[in-house]
Amino acid sequence: MNATDSTFSAAAPDAAWRDEVRELARQRDAVILAHNYQLPEVQDIADHVGDSLALSRIAATADASVIVFCGVHFMAETAKILSYDKTVLIPDERAGCSLAETITADQLRAWKAEHPGAVVVSYDNTTAAVKAATDICCTSSNAVDVVNSIPADREVLFCPDQFLGAHVQRLTGRENMHIWLGECHVHAGINGAELRERVLAEPEAELFIHPECGCATSALYLAGMGVVPAERTKILSTGGMVTAAAQTTAKKVLVATETGMIHQLNKANPLVIFEPVNSAAVCKYMKMITPAKLLRALREMRDEVDVPRDIADRARLSVERMIALGAPSRTGE
Ligand code: 13P
Ligand code: SF4
Repeated sequence: MNATDSTFSAAAPDAAWRDEVRELARQRDAVILAHNYQLPEVQDIADHVGDSLALSRIAATADASVIVFCGVHFMAETAKILSYDKTVLIPDERAGCSLAETITADQLRAWKAEHPGAVVVSYDNTTAAVKAATDICCTSSNAVDVVNSIPADREVLFCPDQFLGAHVQRLTGRENMHIWLGECHVHAGINGAELRERVLAEPEAELFIHPECGCATSALYLAGMGVVPAERTKILSTGGMVTAAAQTTAKKVLVATETGMIHQLNKANPLVIFEPVNSAAVCKYMKMITPAKLLRALREMRDEVDVPRDIADRARLSVERMIALGAPSRTGE
C-alpha cells in the first residue's frame, strides 16, 4: 500500500501511513526504536520506546538486520557501534544534540593530558570520536553506578554535562571528580526560579526532574530548605520517569524535562495529571524526526549512519563497559 503525498505534509499521519511503515519494516527486516522525546505518532509506531540506555541495550541484541533509530544522531551512532554489521538508519541525519557539541575528541584529549591517570566517564550524549577517547560511558540512568565502579583513589573526568556531573558528585560524595562545563540548551533553560514558582503554586504535586536540568541542583537545595518536600522530588532518567509514573499515588506530577516525555507518562498512568514545568522545553533535534521522514527512511533506506571502524572499535569498549555494569540501581533520590 502506498501513502499519498499528504503523508509528507505536516498533517497527522493516518492509517495508510501506519500500514506502510509497518509493512516496509517487515519487508526490510527492520526494528524501529524511538526515544521518549520523539513525537507521539513516532513513539506509537515504534517497536520499542525508551531512554538512551534501554535503547542501546536493545540495539545491541536486536535480531533485525536494520535498525531505524528515531532519536538524535549520537544515539544512532551508539546503535551502530554496538551492532556494527547491521544497517542503522536515522530518519534525518541532521538531528544533532547541542550537548554532544560541547566537547570534541581533541578537547577531551587535551583535558586528559592535564590529568594523567584519570578515568574518563562520558555521557552517552557525545560523538563516537569522543566515546573512542573515553574509558567508560554512562547515561542519566546509570551515571552514579558508573562513577561508583571506579576505584576511589582514581581521579575522574566527567563530561560533558555539568548538571548531571554535579548531581553524580553529590550522590557519590566524590571529591576527585572534574566536571566539563557543557550543557543542553533545552534542559539548562528549565531554571530554578521557574521551578520554585511552579512548586509553590502546586504544593501537592510531585516533581520529576531530569538530571540534565539547570534546576536539578536548585531543586535539591529547595528540598533541603523544605520549600520542595524531599520525598516528592525525584531526579530521574527518562526511563526512570516512566517507572515512577506507573507507581505514583500523586494526583499531579510536575515534569522538568523535554515535553515529549509527557506522552509515555500519560500512557504509564492515565489517572495522573503530568504537566511540564516549562512547556517551551522542546528539543528541535528530536522533533526533526517526523512521521513523513520515518516513512522516507524505510522507503529509501536513508539516512544511513556510518562510524569509521577504528573509531567504532575503540568506542565500543567504553559503551560495553557501561552495559556490563548491569541494570541501574537508581538515578537519584
Ligand atoms: P535519557 O538518557 O534519560 O534518555 O536522556 C537522553 C537525553 O538526551 C536527555 O536530553
Ligand atoms: Fe541533546 Fe538536549 Fe536534545 Fe537531549 S534534549 S537530545 S541533550 S539537545
